[in-house]
Amino acid sequence: MPEETMPTALPGEDRTFQPSSEFRERSHVSDDSLYELANQDRLGFWEKQAEQLHWFKKWDRVLEWDAPYAKWFIGGKLNISYNCLDRHIQTWRRNKAAIIWEGELGGQRVLTYWDLYREVNKFANVLKERFGVKQGDRVTIYMPMIPELAIAMLACVRIGAAHSVIFGGFSADSIRDRVRDCDSKLIITADGGYRNGQIIPLKSIVDKALSSGNTPVEDVIVVRHIGEGAQVQLHEGRDHWYQQLMDDAPARCQAEELDSETLAFLLYTSGTTGKPKGIMHTTGGYLTGVTYTSKYVFDLKEDDVYWCTADIGWITGHSYIVYGPLSNGATTVMYEGSPGYPDKDRFWSIVEKYGVTILYTAPTAIRTFMSWGDDYPKGHDLSTLRLLGTVGEPINPKAWLWYHNVIGQANCPIVDTWWQTETGCIMISPLPGIAHTRPGSASRPLPGFEAEIVDQHGKPVESGTGGLLIIKSPWPSMLRGIYGDPDRYRDTYWSRFEGFYFTGDGAKFDEDGYYWLLGRVDDVINVSGHRLGTMEIESACVDHPSVAEAAAIGIDHEIKGQAIVAFVTLKLDGSSSRGVEEEIRQHVATRIGAFARPEQVIITAELPKTRSGKIMRRLLRDIATGRALGDTTTLADAAVVQKLKKKYEQLAE
Ligand code: PRX
Repeated sequence: MPEETMPTALPGEDRTFQPSSEFRERSHVSDDSLYELANQDRLGFWEKQAEQLHWFKKWDRVLEWDAPYAKWFIGGKLNISYNCLDRHIQTWRRNKAAIIWEGELGGQRVLTYWDLYREVNKFANVLKERFGVKQGDRVTIYMPMIPELAIAMLACVRIGAAHSVIFGGFSADSIRDRVRDCDSKLIITADGGYRNGQIIPLKSIVDKALSSGNTPVEDVIVVRHIGEGAQVQLHEGRDHWYQQLMDDAPARCQAEELDSETLAFLLYTSGTTGKPKGIMHTTGGYLTGVTYTSKYVFDLKEDDVYWCTADIGWITGHSYIVYGPLSNGATTVMYEGSPGYPDKDRFWSIVEKYGVTILYTAPTAIRTFMSWGDDYPKGHDLSTLRLLGTVGEPINPKAWLWYHNVIGQANCPIVDTWWQTETGCIMISPLPGIAHTRPGSASRPLPGFEAEIVDQHGKPVESGTGGLLIIKSPWPSMLRGIYGDPDRYRDTYWSRFEGFYFTGDGAKFDEDGYYWLLGRVDDVINVSGHRLGTMEIESACVDHPSVAEAAAIGIDHEIKGQAIVAFVTLKLDGSSSRGVEEEIRQHVATRIGAFARPEQVIITAELPKTRSGKIMRRLLRDIATGRALGDTTTLADAAVVQKLKKKYEQLAE
């Protein structure tokens, strides 16, 4: 069990904000009937949501729950790609914009539903006919934010193959670990992507990942995105240009009629050990969850221009750039690059250019914009916006209010949406037409979900008291397991409170039943909305030749939410050199990805440990945040922590 701290922090803002009567009247949900329906008959409620999809064959039974294993819509047959494409092209939506793409350098591409349908069909044929990809295979995707990323995902699920998208910021080592873990024989990548005006050489990173030869990968498909500026070496027999393959591909590929429980995708996420977990999501339940929540949480309408600024490499992009919006037949904006390029008003220029109506972003981005000043958004017409959303970490009331006043111009409800890679879709969030939102609170569980906040013994806490967030009953889009590791699935999520799902998050609720999320209570750090395990960072530090031992912690950071501080002991063989701290920071970035680079590396002669040898991260957190040291009685050597505290204070001066 990870070291767990009961959360206690209480946010300090109690104003409430209501939607305008105009918003409420036009909204999909303008009263409590959805909650009532779900409370009366939860399974019936979920069946109603599933009925919004196209099923080749309807399910025989709605749920089989043999904790911790759930099957939803058993016997039903459907296809995610069919639901996102085929059923729309049979209607007037055929010519509606499905994806509006903006490149970092300013290029623009609009793919209608028909365009997307055509490309996905062809690429599904490439996978199936040229590479023999079949139902049950795992295909790795390591791409920039370009339409071909969505095309590749939709093509995989069209033929029943599971995709494993790896965020473009991950390193070669991370790619190698992931393709090995899921035994993936094919990688789809690009010659590169743009980020902050720089070219990220994705194909070269893939080459590095495969250079040891010790991987299952047999073929690499490369999209030409950068063109001339990219240095690409094609490995004869292994690497293939996407565009050439597409030229030869037949136009139509029928969507497979897949069993509801067919594995749709894997998405690796961090946990409390050094090894990332391949979270498994299946077809019918996942699509039901994301279709339902996209429609109601974002109040998604036919004429909306919806923009989620996440990267598709994370679950937010899977569920709320690709699958949820497309299943609803919406127009989804996809932006390739960085918010600060070429200038700090890029997001606002995109909102203005496309007349974005719904904007979904992360608190870390909001805090960054706040620090850049109001002039950037004020220089643009943001009057098309009607709804704002946030995700990824707790939002501090100050950032919430800035978002509300400066971006929403006090005229847009804000949905603070709590969920996880594992939950597949949003679980706790206001419904924008009816909620009285409070800055910093994600409001209540959505209809269909049953959450609870409990103490360490599983007893529900009283209002105002911090506790642990659990989910009491299975839901359609819940993870179905960790790829290849059923024991870890059981241990991580289901052993803490028998029969209940443990989220790893702390929370409290107030006298009106509103939930306030208080951050992780386990050894998971949330840096700019990116989830990292302390063990993962520690393994990367220890992998450096001079490091003997390491302990990583998260400390509060004004912009990033949390930042990583790594305390490190060095080997006594004299192998370390001056400037080793910087080397270790760089080593972690190389091992995991640049987003995991520690803010600070502190060399220490020893780490504070209990008599049984367990590192006391709690005390390291006290040191790094300048707090008075907590209980030190269980330490093997109390002098270690005093020395370290002194050293830290000297460094800070
Ligand atoms: O700690 C919670 C935080 O992000 C974690 C999930 O991270 P990940 O699986 O990467 O998914 C992020 C996007 C869904 C949660 O355990 N988190 C997410 N949304 C919120 C949040 N914390 C507070 N408020 C939120 N709205």
